[in-house]
Formats: sequence, C-alpha cells, structure tokens
Amino acid sequence: MQQNILMSDETLFRDCSIFDGEHTPEQFRFRDTQLSRIAENIRPAFHGARPLNMILRGPPGTGKTTSVKQVFGEIEGTTRKIIPVLVNCRRNQTEYRVFRRIYEAVFHQKPPVSGVCVQSLTETLCGELSARGAVLLICLDDANFIFHDNLLEKVLGTLLRLYEEYPGIRTGIIVTVSNIDIPVAGLLSPSVVSVFQPNEIYFPPYGEGEVRAILRDRVRAGLYPDVVSPEILDSIVTETMRCSDLRMGIALANRSVLRAESAGRRSVSAADVVASVQEAENQHLKSIVRTLREDERNMLGAIGTLYQQTGEEMISGDLYRALQPQVPMCYTLFFERLEKFRNLGLIKTYRPPKRGNTRRIVLQYGSGRVRDVCSAR
Ligand SMILES: Nc1ncnc2c1ncn2[C@@H]1O[C@H](COP(=O)(O)OP(=O)(O)OP(=O)(O)O)[C@@H](O)[C@H]1O
Ligand SMILES: [Mg+2]
Repeated sequence: MQQNILMSDETLFRDCSIFDGEHTPEQFRFRDTQLSRIAENIRPAFHGARPLNMILRGPPGTGKTTSVKQVFGEIEGTTRKIIPVLVNCRRNQTEYRVFRRIYEAVFHQKPPVSGVCVQSLTETLCGELSARGAVLLICLDDANFIFHDNLLEKVLGTLLRLYEEYPGIRTGIIVTVSNIDIPVAGLLSPSVVSVFQPNEIYFPPYGEGEVRAILRDRVRAGLYPDVVSPEILDSIVTETMRCSDLRMGIALANRSVLRAESAGRRSVSAADVVASVQEAENQHLKSIVRTLREDERNMLGAIGTLYQQTGEEMISGDLYRALQPQVPMCYTLFFERLEKFRNLGLIKTYRPPKRGNTRRIVLQYGSGRVRDVCSAR
C-alpha cells in the first residue's frame, strides 16, 4: 500500500525537460526522407554557392521546426561559412523584428537602438557576410504568422534581392508553414515568386503507430519506469490522434503525470488523462492567442461570446454585422483578420454553394473557451 504513495520529495520525472515544447528529441524518427531532402537543398552552400530555397509544409506538430533545428545544429558544428538563422515568426511579426533577429544571430548582439531601420540593418549585415565570405541560411519558421499585411512578401522581397544591391551575397531561405490549404506562392507577387522558386517538402501527419513510438520514447526518457502503463499510453495516443497534433500528445502526457504526482500517486490513471485533455487543449489555444494583437484578440473573443449565444457557426455577412457594436471595423479589415485566424488554425471557413463571397465561419475551439482565453490577461 505504502509503495503506491509518492513521498512529498519524490518525483515521477526522471527529466522533466523532456516534455518542454522547446526540447529537441534525442531520437528524431520517421523524418529521414525530409531531413535528407533539406540537406540536399543546402549542399551547394558547402561549396560557397547559394542553397536552394524551400518550403516545409505540414500540419502542426509534424516535426518541421525540429528538422530545421537538427540540420542547423549540424551545420553549426561543421562550418562557419554557412550562418543558419532560425527566425520564429510567431515572436517576430514585423519586418524590422525579423531583420533584428537575423542581425542578432549574425553579430551575437542587439543592433544599436536609435535610428536603425531595416535598410541600415541589411547594409551592416551584408558588409559582415562579405567580410566573412559566408552564406546566410534563414528559416522563417511558422511563416503563417507573417502572412498578414503582406509581410511575407516584404521580408522575402528584401532577402531575395540582397544580391542585387550587394553583389556576391548569397542567401537561402527555408519557409515553414502549417497550413496545408494555402499556397504560399498565391501570397507573393510574381517578381518575388520568380526569385524564390522554392522546393516544397511535405511533412505528413504521423500515423498512430508513429505517434505511439514517439510518445513511448519520451515517456522512457522523461519518466521513471511504470509511471505510464501501456494502456495509459494507448489512451494518450488516442487523444493525440483525435487532435491530430503530436505536440498536444506530449503536453497531455506531461499534464497527466503532473496530476498523478500532485495527488501523490506513483502512476498515471485513466482519470488523470481525461482531466488533462482540456487543460492541454487550453494551453495550446492560449499559446496561439498570446501571439495576437489586442484588436485581433478582442475580435476573436467577441466571436466566442457571439457563438455562445447563437450556435457554433455564422455566415460572414451576419457575423460582420453582429460584431460591429463591440468591435467596429471596415469589411476589408474584418476579412483580413478572419484570414489571419484561419492561418493560425483558430477558425475554418467554408464557402456555401452559390453564395458568392459568403463564407461559413466555424471556430476550431469551443466558443466558451475562446471567449475565456481571449478575455484572460
Ligand atoms: N519524429 C519525431 N520524433 C520525436 N519527436 C518529435 C518528432 N516530430 C515532432 N516531435 C516533437 O513534437 C513537437 C512538435 O514538433 P515541431 O515543433 O518540430 O513541429 P512543427 O511541424 O514545427 O509544428 P508547427 O507547425 O506547429 O510549428 C516537438 O516537441 C518535437 O520535439
Ligand atoms: Mg514549428
């Protein structure tokens, strides 16, 4: 009896960092094809030539960022003639911030504070790249966060044309996106498309067996034996498949263990998993809402409140009118924000037959939860 009770100074985690969102797994399986295609596209840079541009496309949690980190890690350990820079577009949603991030990665320091614009950052950057004779390899990670306001076009336009102003500069660009239904080229002008010419690499969702193997690796590496039984692992796998996002599965495993631990038990119960599903989903929603601007968050929250009263979907024209009292805006802005929500997986839009530009707008999370998360500070 005593054996099943956890002492207050005991833990179920062998290493809790294994469940961190930022953790790079020791075993990165099922992505050999994608990794070798990325490496192939980068290979010219090892000979001083321009690497091929790429788009890594796949639903959330399919290993795009992890693949890039893995390849970038190997480059950093091999050569100084390629400077890889991972730009997290969730955290850097303006042109200036993207270039500041690149500057920081190249110089290992922040740019001088006053009077610095994108142009002067690129000038200094290009001077340094020429002096080092290095190729710049940039990953615009989660680029769907800069689809709005023509930002991706601006950033790519500047990066891809650096060689025109600064001859000899070589850059390669990797764009990762998690929307599988939006063609990136459709967001770009023909002049940018013609220099971008990306190779597309697809990251398919993991199948059930793959999810089980990945989660089992994490459980083995992060927890003491028998904390998660094979049956509990199965139920975590089932929930992961339902959300079709591995990240949710990792968060769910973590939360279920924390729950068992705080109840003083030595193993996770089925009830721990059930109770943690909602928390894990909330966490996921919160991480997206945190990246929205205040006006966007207000609009999304207002949609949550409305849908609570009217049901879980509305037609775009009705939604626009219903939102006006709380969040006045013009029609163009309304559609721009809807587009952004769609890019972030917050809503889905459907075009009813024979209704012109009308869309059905469906929230991807429960309306009450959306309202609560958007109103929480
Ligand atoms: N093949 C794998 N083996 C082990 N862990 C993996 C694998 N693929 C993904 N993961 C883990 O799943 C989580 C999500 O992976 P990652 O961040 O690479 O996904 P992503 O495709 O970039 O998702 P998003 O589109 O949401 O940015 C990370 O914790 C990562 O370590
Ligand atoms: Mg990612």
